[in-house]
Parts: sequence; C-alpha cells; structure tokens
Amino acid sequence: MKNIFFSCILLISVTANAQKWEGLALTPPMGWNSWNTFAGNINEKLVMETADAMVSSGMRDAGYIYLVLDDAWMAKERDAKTGDLVPDPVKFPRGMKAVADYIHSKGLKFGLYNCAGTLTCAGYPGTRGYEYQDARFYASVETDYLKFDWCSSDGINAKEAYTTMSKALKKAGRPILFSLCEWGQNKPWNWASSVGHIWRTTGDITAQWEGIKTHGTWSSSGVMKILESQDTLRKYAGPGHWNDPDMLEVGNGLSESENRAHFSMWSMIAAPLIAGNDIRKMSASVKAILTDKDVIAVNQDSLGIQAMKYAAKDSLETWIKPMKNGDWVICFLNRKAIAQSINFNWNEKIIEDAVAKRNLDTKAVTYKLTNLWTKKSIGDTKKALQVMVPPHDVVMLRLMK
Ligand code: GLA
Repeated sequence: MKNIFFSCILLISVTANAQKWEGLALTPPMGWNSWNTFAGNINEKLVMETADAMVSSGMRDAGYIYLVLDDAWMAKERDAKTGDLVPDPVKFPRGMKAVADYIHSKGLKFGLYNCAGTLTCAGYPGTRGYEYQDARFYASVETDYLKFDWCSSDGINAKEAYTTMSKALKKAGRPILFSLCEWGQNKPWNWASSVGHIWRTTGDITAQWEGIKTHGTWSSSGVMKILESQDTLRKYAGPGHWNDPDMLEVGNGLSESENRAHFSMWSMIAAPLIAGNDIRKMSASVKAILTDKDVIAVNQDSLGIQAMKYAAKDSLETWIKPMKNGDWVICFLNRKAIAQSINFNWNEKIIEDAVAKRNLDTKAVTYKLTNLWTKKSIGDTKKALQVMVPPHDVVMLRLMK
C-alpha cells in the first residue's frame, strides 16, 4: 500500500516536471532545412521537389526524415481577427497543412521555424506572447519539428522563454521535436535537456573551412571554427538531448575532402545531421558522403556519446568516440592545406574516457581496423598505425573486437 502511495506521488511529480515530449530524439535528428541554400526563397514547389528528391536520392532511407522550412514561410502579419500565424499566400497558396500532407505522404516528417522574440531574424511575426496559440497552429497543420530562434529577444530570459514554448507544445498535444536556436548565448547545455531535444551551441555556420565571415552587424563561422568550441560540451549531450553545432554545409561549395571531413566530424560529435544543400541537384560525390551508412552509423550510435578530442598537434587532431557495442571510432582530422602523416602507436598508453567511463586498452584487447570511407580492412591494433591524412580531410577508422 505504502509502495503504491509513493509510486503515485512519484508519477505525479514526474508528470508535473515533464516539459518536453520524451522519446523523440533518442539518436541525433536527421533531415533537411531550407535556410543554408535558399534563405527566404522558399515555396510549395521547392518543398515538394525536395521531398521527392529526399526519397529518390536515398536520403530518406539513409535516415534524413525531417523536412524543415526555416525563416520566411509566413506572411508579414498575423491574421487580424484571430492573431493566428498566416502562411505566405504567394509562396504557400494551399497553406501549411497541404504541405505537411505531401511531406507525410512521402514517409517524411514536417518541420517549421519561428522565434522566441517579437520578430523572426528575417522580420516575420515572432512568437513572443503567442506561445500557446502558435503551438496549437503547429499541431493543427501537423508539424513534427519546431526550430525556435532568438532574434528580437531583448530583455527576455532564455530559459523561461524556451520553457514556455516547450510547455505550449506539450499542451497542444502533438509530439513535436523542439530545436532551440539561441546560438549558445545562454549556455543552454546547462538547462535545456528537459526543455528541448537539440540546442544550438554557436552562431551560424558558413560554407567555408576555417575562419569567420562578417556580415556587417553579425558574423558566421567556418566549419573548423565551429568545431573548436564543441569538445568541452560533450558531457551535456546524450539520447534525447543533443548539442547542435548548426546545420550541414556539405554540398554548398566546400571541396570534396572538406565535405567529407565536415560530415565525419559532425558524425563523430553526435550532431544533428540536417542537410542544407539543394538535394534536387546534388553531385554523386555529395550524395555518397551524405548517405554513407557506416559514417551515419557512427552518428546514430545508440550510446549517444560525443567523440572526445584526444590530441591536437600541428593542426592534426585525433578524435575518439565510444560505441554502444564496445567498438570505438577514431578520426584523424587534418586542418592544414598540406598532407600530414600519422604514426599512432596504439599500445603507448591506455586511452581513458571519463564521460563514457570506459578505457581503450589495446594491450588488453586487440581491435580490427576498418577505414570507414574506403571500406578497407587495414589490420589491427597490434601494430602502430602509419597513415597519410590528405589536406582538409580525415582518416576515419572503426575499431572492432
Ligand atoms: C538565425 C539562425 C539561422 C536561420 C536564420 C533565419 O540566424 O541561427 O539558422 O534560422 O536565423 O533567419
């Protein structure tokens, strides 16, 4: 009797504390988002063609399930009578439910964008003060994913604003993956795991290898620049709650090796894999990178622990990720524009992973090595590894017992 009483109390308190929809992102979410290539130039035709291409290219079957419309899907004003959000009547003449229906008919899920502030970053109606009403709108047009930005948010408390939206989504009754996009400004890794499923850790990404691009009042960062700030955050991520170093720029102007390195590193750090290229026109090389099942398996591993940066010297970095079945993945990343050689003596010391609470001890266990990109077996950990890492590229190996 006493036990039943305490179980009931526990259940009531767990339910009362429950904010976000649980179980929606047990592995990092995968999908496509319109912003990196199309910015505000989106419409129903683009969505339908992209949905078709996600299926015909094999992207959907590789795991890219969410098709997310970013900023600029709305009209400039809310409905004057009801205060509801209104889809842009020229871009989306049949409204968002018709778009959602098409996306769902292709076996995909549908995502939308808005902002915690009064206006979105592109100047469309923000959600501040309309959280419950907007959540009902998303549920009514069968949205499955909401990216929630941070423009025009002066004076707002981030944790409170995102918590309110999270509760509103729960109340609206439709499971919606909640993507927080406040650019890491309020350290969401400290508070967002009960609020949403992914949280941006940085400002915007841009399709360049290193450095920063300035745009007057704000700047965006190259792929390597973003990667630099991710290692210290690994302990905050896990099944259902992930660090988000922003969407992929694979296929948006980086070289083939840079595309491969970017995709490998986002997979290593268990980042959401949200493609941002024009899927209707991607090259065979870009498609092969985005759909590589062995590399995606590293990202989607159910243990859900980000890789750690084990070593870095002369812009040659060594990252290691523990895998659910006891395997490990090691990725050598060459940030330089010249090839560099690696001589890695497995038996030099035991590699300790304090987050996974597991050691890689190659004296105790010999692992077979497979190169995940070339698919070749390359011996085992008894012998020191000697390998050349091409410029702006990776060598990514899976260690198997
Ligand atoms: C912000 C976000 C981007 C994108 C744009 C849209 O910059 O960080 O990812 O959503 O707004 O305006």
